[in-house]
Amino acid sequence: LFLRAKASSSKTMANDEVTGGSLKQQLAKLFEESLRITVPEELDVDPAIAPCQNPKFGDYQCNNAMGLWSKVKGKSTQFKGPQPIGQAIMKNLPASEMVDSCSIAGPGFVNVVLSRQWIAKSIQKMLVDGIEAWAPKLPVKRAVVDFSSPNIAKEMHVGHLRSTIIGDTLARMLEYSNVEVLRRNHVGDWGTQFGMLIEYLFEKFPSGEVASDQAIGDLETFYKASKQRFDSDPAFKERAQRAVVSLQAGEEKYRKAWAHICEISRRGYEKVYQRLGVHLEEKGESFYNPYIPGALELLSKQGLIEESEGARVIFIEGKNIPLIVVKKDGGYNYASTDLAALWYRLNEEKAEWIIYVTDVGQREHFEMFFTAAKRAGWLPAEENKYPKASHVGFGLVLGEDGKRFRTRSTETVKLVDLLDEAKSKCKAALIERGKAKEWTEEELEKTAEAVGYGAVKYADLKNNRTTNYTFSFDQMLNDKGNTAVYLLYAHARICSIIRKSGKDIEELKKTGTIDLVHPDERTLGLHLLQFAEVVEEACTNLLPNVLCEYLYNLSEDFTRFYTNCQVVGSAEETSRLLLCEATAVVMRKCFHLLGITPVYKI
Ligand code: ARG
Repeated sequence: LFLRAKASSSKTMANDEVTGGSLKQQLAKLFEESLRITVPEELDVDPAIAPCQNPKFGDYQCNNAMGLWSKVKGKSTQFKGPQPIGQAIMKNLPASEMVDSCSIAGPGFVNVVLSRQWIAKSIQKMLVDGIEAWAPKLPVKRAVVDFSSPNIAKEMHVGHLRSTIIGDTLARMLEYSNVEVLRRNHVGDWGTQFGMLIEYLFEKFPSGEVASDQAIGDLETFYKASKQRFDSDPAFKERAQRAVVSLQAGEEKYRKAWAHICEISRRGYEKVYQRLGVHLEEKGESFYNPYIPGALELLSKQGLIEESEGARVIFIEGKNIPLIVVKKDGGYNYASTDLAALWYRLNEEKAEWIIYVTDVGQREHFEMFFTAAKRAGWLPAEENKYPKASHVGFGLVLGEDGKRFRTRSTETVKLVDLLDEAKSKCKAALIERGKAKEWTEEELEKTAEAVGYGAVKYADLKNNRTTNYTFSFDQMLNDKGNTAVYLLYAHARICSIIRKSGKDIEELKKTGTIDLVHPDERTLGLHLLQFAEVVEEACTNLLPNVLCEYLYNLSEDFTRFYTNCQVVGSAEETSRLLLCEATAVVMRKCFHLLGITPVYKI
C-alpha cells in the first residue's frame, strides 16, 4: 500500500506511483508530466507547487512559468512570455480526477481547484485504510536523533527538557514517515569531572560499600561538594586527576564507582522520561571513547589535524578559534567524542540523517565539527544531499519575570516537580468542573496526566524552536487559545458528538459516503488532506511548530464547520459524522506525533 520514496527528487519516481505521497506530491507529479511536454528542453526543472494565498483563485498553484520564461527567453520561438508558458502548462496537464478546474492568473500562475469528490474520496479511503496510509515519503531510511542527553551527576535542567520534548517529536514524525530512528541519549558520562566524583565517593565511603542506593543521595549536592573539595584542596585535586587515569585505564575499582554514579544519575532522569512517555537508548560519551583514536587517525591522514599551542586542532575557515580535538594534556574532549560518534553513526550504524537537538548556544560547536566532517569527505559538501547532519537548536526557557527559568530555591528547576505540578493543577481544575463525582479516581488521574504533561509539551513545541519561550502554567493550562488543553478538549468534544449520535461509526465507514457540500465542509476536508505534506514539511525543516499550527487550524476549521453545519439529525448526517471521525483521527495522529496522549471525554 505504502510506497517508499526511491530518492529525494520526484523525478526518479515512476509514474505508477502517482497515487502515493502527499496531496502536494501528487499534484507535483501531474505538473511534472505537463512540464516535460511543455518545455522538453528543460528536464531538470522541478514543479513549484504551493497552496494558493487567496482561496478565491483556487487551492494550489503551479509557479513555474516565470522561472521557465527566464530560461527559454531568446531561445524559444514557441513562447512570447511567461503567460503563454502558463497556458501551455495548463493545457498539457494530464487529466486527473484530482483536478476540478484550472485557471491562469498574473504572469502565468496556474491555479488549481481540486475536485471536492476527490477530496471526499481520499478522506474516506483514509478512514478505511488507516492514517498510516497518509505517511509522507522521505528520502532516508535510517536516522539518528541525538536528544535529551543530560550530563551525569549534574541536574537535568529545563534545557534538557526542551531537548527531550523536541527530539521525541522529531523522532515520532520520522518514525511515522517510515524512517528507522535510532533514539540516542548522548549522556555526558565521561570526562575529567569523574575523577573528582569518584575520589569524593571513596573519601565519603572508605569502606567501599557504595552499592546502596542512598549512598550518594542528592547527586547535585554531591557534585557541588566534590567540586568544592577539588577547588580548595590541592592534594585532593591530584588524587582526582590520578583517578581519571585509573578510570580510563579500566581499573576495576574505578570502573565500579563510575558505573555506580552513572546508575544513580540515570534513575533520576528515567523518572522524567517515564512521566513524559519518552523512549531513548543511552549511548553516552563513554561509548564512543574507544573510537576516538581511529577517527582522529582518519582525519590526520587527510591532513586536517594540526599542532597548535600544544594541542591538536582542526582549523575551520571563517572561524577565529580552531576546533580542539586533543587537549594539551593529551586528553580528548567534547569535540573529539562528537567526531568519533559521527563516524560511528555513519559507518557502523549506517544512518543517513543525524540530528542533534541542543540549545542554540552550541551552534558553533556543531557547525565546526560538521565542517570538519565535510572536509574529510564523511559528509557531502552540498546542503541538500545525504548523508546529512543537522543541528536542531532551540532557545532558552524564560520565567515569567523574563529571566532564565528557575524555581524559588534552586538554581535549576527540578523537572519532575515541574511535571507533577502541571498534573496536579490539571487535576484540581477537573475536580472543580465536578469530574470527581462523574469519573473514577483512575480516570481523573489519567486525564490529569494527559492534559498536564501534554500542556507542558505543547507550550514548548508550538513556538518556533529557535526563539526563547516563557514558561507559564497559567498560559499553558488555559482552556482557551492555542493550548493543549483547548485542543484535547476539542478532540473530546468531537468524540462525544459521535458517541451521542448513537451511530456505529465503523459501520458508517463501510457503507456511508462523504460529500462535501457546504463550503465549510470542503475547507475542513482539504485541511485534513494536507496532513501528510505538513508532516513532511515539519520533518524536512525539523520544525515541530509547523505541526502545532496545523493542529490548531484544524480545530478552528472544525469549529467553523460544526457551527455552520448541523450534524446529528440532518439529511447529511452520515457524511458529516464521517467528517467528524476523520477530524478526530487526524487530531489524534497529531497528538501522537507531538507525544501527547489524547483524551476522549471531558
Ligand atoms: N550533554 C550535552 C549537554 O548537556 C548535550 C549533548 C548533545 N549531543 C551531542 N552529540 N553533542 O549540553
